[in-house]
Amino acid sequence: MNAVDFRNVSFRYAGSEKEALANINLKIEEGESVLITGPSGCGKSTIAKIIMGLIPHSYTGEFSGEAYVFGMNILENPVSNIATKCGIVFQNPENQLFTFSVEDDVAFGPENLALPPEEIRKRVDESLKLVGIEHLRYSSPNNLSGGEQQKAAIASILSMYPSLIVFDEPTSMLDPSSSINLIQSIFRLKEELEKKGGRLTLIIIEHRIGLLLDHVSRIIVISDGRIVLDGEPLSVLYESFKKKIPINIPPILQIYFRIKDRCGLEKPPKNLKELFSYLREASSEKHG
Ligand SMILES: Nc1ncnc2c1ncn2[C@@H]1O[C@H](COP(=O)(O)OP(=O)(O)OP(=O)(O)O)[C@@H](O)[C@H]1O
Ligand SMILES: [Mg+2]
Repeated sequence: MNAVDFRNVSFRYAGSEKEALANINLKIEEGESVLITGPSGCGKSTIAKIIMGLIPHSYTGEFSGEAYVFGMNILENPVSNIATKCGIVFQNPENQLFTFSVEDDVAFGPENLALPPEEIRKRVDESLKLVGIEHLRYSSPNNLSGGEQQKAAIASILSMYPSLIVFDEPTSMLDPSSSINLIQSIFRLKEELEKKGGRLTLIIIEHRIGLLLDHVSRIIVISDGRIVLDGEPLSVLYESFKKKIPINIPPILQIYFRIKDRCGLEKPPKNLKELFSYLREASSEKHG
């Protein structure tokens, strides 16, 4: 089943002359892990808002085309229906935490579904454990670090047992080591859920491509409201490099792309050490 299915989707925000998205065709299968990247203002968050049904239900503008999320037509389903299947984590987790304790925030969604108290307790316990913040259960969200708040926001989505989570620049408020830590926990989480027989689709919007490269199986590049590249990570990045699309290709890959044909390299270097040995070989061939 397709988790996401956009057919010729276009959207123009009210008051704006230009379409934020133009003719997007996009299918994401259940269970996929996809990175969406592209220059600032290209339309990434707009895609996230459509997946959640926030566009067109909470934003005014001109929507055309068809968008389905797990078979639900977003035009025919209120945001609350879509929220039973999909959760979104924004770049600023503070906006997503609004009660006095982490526990209450995590319980909020299931309480709105009017689930029995013991089911709610079970989901809260599980969700806190999955993101590793059981010890923060009774803490006030205001007293947490950025990384901890981000994890609390994720737990509050997990308690809804989502089939799809969209992360919209989840690391933009975090330092480099917390960013790596967060991304690792997101993918560990997917593994854990899948061990239990669940399926989780992940859509991650990120500028910092290097953080995700080892984790995703597909990269989609958006530019000016359109999908310009979509496919296997390394070939998408190579195409972006050749076409000079302004995205953050990790420096080590930029060097690799520059020398790969000349040096007959089939695989990118895994680390700097390997890159240096490639370069050494290349220069000794040139001089020798
Ligand atoms: N509420 C709004 N009203 C009017 N125009 C908007 C609104 N939100 C976004 N836009 C415009 O729509 C376009 C796409 O915005 P969007 O937020 O989807 O970009 P983005 O790729 O997420 O950018 P960033 O990387 O900076 O987060 C931009 O030109 C933006 O200015
Ligand atoms: Mg955005």
